[in-house]
Amino acid sequence: MTKNTFTLKSLKSKCLTGKLSVPADKSISIRALLISSICFGNTNISNLLPSEDVKNTLNCLKELGIKILKKGSEFEVFGQGGFFDDPQKELFLGNSGTGLRLLIGLLSARNVNANFAGDKSLSSRPMMRIIEPLKKMNTSIKHNNGYLPIKIEKNNDSSLPINYSLEIGSAQVKSAILLAGISLSGSTIIKEKFPSRDHTEILLKYLGANIKKEKNIITLKSPNFLKPKDIFIPGDFSSAAFLIVATLITKESKIFLKNVGLNFFRTGLLEVLKKMNAKIDILNKRLINGELVGDIIVESSNLISTEVASNLAPRLIDEFPILFVAASYASGKSTFRGLEELKFKESDRLKTMANALGDAGVELYLKKDSLEVIGNKTQLGGNLVITKNDHRIAMSMLTFGLAAENSITIDDSSMIKTSFPKFKETMNSLNAIINNVSK
Ligand code: S3P
Repeated sequence: MTKNTFTLKSLKSKCLTGKLSVPADKSISIRALLISSICFGNTNISNLLPSEDVKNTLNCLKELGIKILKKGSEFEVFGQGGFFDDPQKELFLGNSGTGLRLLIGLLSARNVNANFAGDKSLSSRPMMRIIEPLKKMNTSIKHNNGYLPIKIEKNNDSSLPINYSLEIGSAQVKSAILLAGISLSGSTIIKEKFPSRDHTEILLKYLGANIKKEKNIITLKSPNFLKPKDIFIPGDFSSAAFLIVATLITKESKIFLKNVGLNFFRTGLLEVLKKMNAKIDILNKRLINGELVGDIIVESSNLISTEVASNLAPRLIDEFPILFVAASYASGKSTFRGLEELKFKESDRLKTMANALGDAGVELYLKKDSLEVIGNKTQLGGNLVITKNDHRIAMSMLTFGLAAENSITIDDSSMIKTSFPKFKETMNSLNAIINNVSK
């Protein structure tokens, strides 16, 4: 059977202009649903991201007996204080590593029997990183050699909090442990070697949890009884990143992005781009339910090359693909180090991007966990990109095509809906040329 793919093509564009709000943050949307489901009472969530990954998380919660109502543009989650029904069907998380890893964490210490599944990409992503600490908490998890399918079983309230040293920079692992520890008596302590996005900590604190961070040690004193409060989801910086780089690399462009989440652990890209001479200004910084939010103005810029050291990697982990695109159009040699974790994303992003950019004529050198990109104002393009079912590869390479001499076509675009369902329409509204391709 041939897969029904829907493909897109991007063409050289200029004068990108407009003022818009980027789609809501995927990481925070998923956390808002999961955490409000264990509150004691009802939570209203506004601006929830209507993407596939978020919908899958929402459907799983419904399957677990949580009532969720859509009221106009808001969602009301009827929290049950941590009690769930055994799902009748397997919990399907589609493409979402965050949805899967956080939901397993949330349920593993709560007396639920559940089976988890996902799409082909998720089924090939490593799960030992959460299974290992969760098992130390005395939870019962069966797995397929560290991969999906995974099954959790009731363990008669015998789970325990742990004191854990997290050796990789992973917010998903950190969050899985915290969500498991939230109702267990005692202190869950995590020492982060490479601090990562702290949306879970921020939201738990906002909803009344006893959680604090000192240097790189997070302490969650439990049990916690979370009280519902309204949650507004800020714009996703990772989605804004495509629009920012599109503006920087195309001529005579200037855009204004409203309400973008600016969490410190998400915005390493801004620091790198500014060092690359990017004209970017941040205005109206404010806190919304504990998250830093602001507006961003970006203009076309003559980018110069950069060096990114490995300690910055966790703060721009999802933005590397689009940063490689920016580096392709910057003058000089850029070097990126500490890229190991890119291999475990929706695809092996290091290899997939190196192949796509190489095919587009970019001079680059791929090493074990580092990449050198020799930038040039003029890039050839003209290739068909193998996206490996990875939304960030698809959007990064379409963005690349907006400044290339020849158009860029991607082999499939259906997975873009996992994070940025209106990517094409949004880009087109700014004057970027992205067209459907009939196959
Ligand atoms: C995420 C954490 C990161 C990131 C992913 C979203 C999250 O993954 O790449 O897109 O919401 O916690 P890791 O925790 O695997 O680094």
